[in-house]
Amino acid sequence: MSRKKFLMGNWKMNHTIEEAEAFCDDVKEMGLVKKARAKSVMIGVAPSYLSLQAVRKHAHGLIVASQDVHYANHGAYTSSVSIPMLEEINVDWSIVGHSEKRQYEGETDLDCNQKIKALVANRFHAIYCVGESAKEYDAGLTKDVIAMQVMVGLLDLSKEEIGNVVIAYEPVWAIGTGKNASAEIAEDICKFIRSLLEKHFGKVASQKALILYGGSVKPESIHGYLQQEDVDGALVGGASLKSQSFQELLNNI
Ligand code: PGA
Repeated sequence: MSRKKFLMGNWKMNHTIEEAEAFCDDVKEMGLVKKARAKSVMIGVAPSYLSLQAVRKHAHGLIVASQDVHYANHGAYTSSVSIPMLEEINVDWSIVGHSEKRQYEGETDLDCNQKIKALVANRFHAIYCVGESAKEYDAGLTKDVIAMQVMVGLLDLSKEEIGNVVIAYEPVWAIGTGKNASAEIAEDICKFIRSLLEKHFGKVASQKALILYGGSVKPESIHGYLQQEDVDGALVGGASLKSQSFQELLNNI
């Protein structure tokens, strides 16, 4: 089955509004959205909350995603942003469960599940991040950890709703460390994730699902990942920050 490819930049806590706008202007000048369409690649970025609206306005066809979202529509949740707030600025994608949220803010699989359910109920797209820690990897627990994250994170979703969820496999030991997982490891785990999706949602949904690899992906390494049968794209942090490097990532797909 041929699935679209997906290149998503996660800017984390980088880029002021001015820098984010400059990136978008570069992308326009380089004609990256057009290039991506010609290659059947979806491309997008996830800026900080503060830059979201500006990036949305300068997106010129880039997918714009929030880095997180709250499951409630409003309420006493200091520092959080809700789905209606994103809707108001025409953002309908959000990352959920990034390991930095899990690690530094104690986000759990159940928290992720609430967010994903709220997103898909509002016809948003979710990019759900899963991945094992270095300790879990060393103990040979990768697949147990992933199976749990997938099962709990996607609890109660329907076969239709799963169509709006992209899964990103991001081994924690490979994020921002320069120690990327080999293409073989990425394929092994992405294939495993597809088998879990098949078990929970059936073959058709699992074959349609986009599964990304993330963790120290660079322009030199992206091709090796995307050549794998079950790796449909990449979630890229550091190497997505500069427009030149973002262009190289796309060129090398
Ligand atoms: P990295 O980040 O590419 O800088 O390792 C990836 C991510 O955290 O999504």
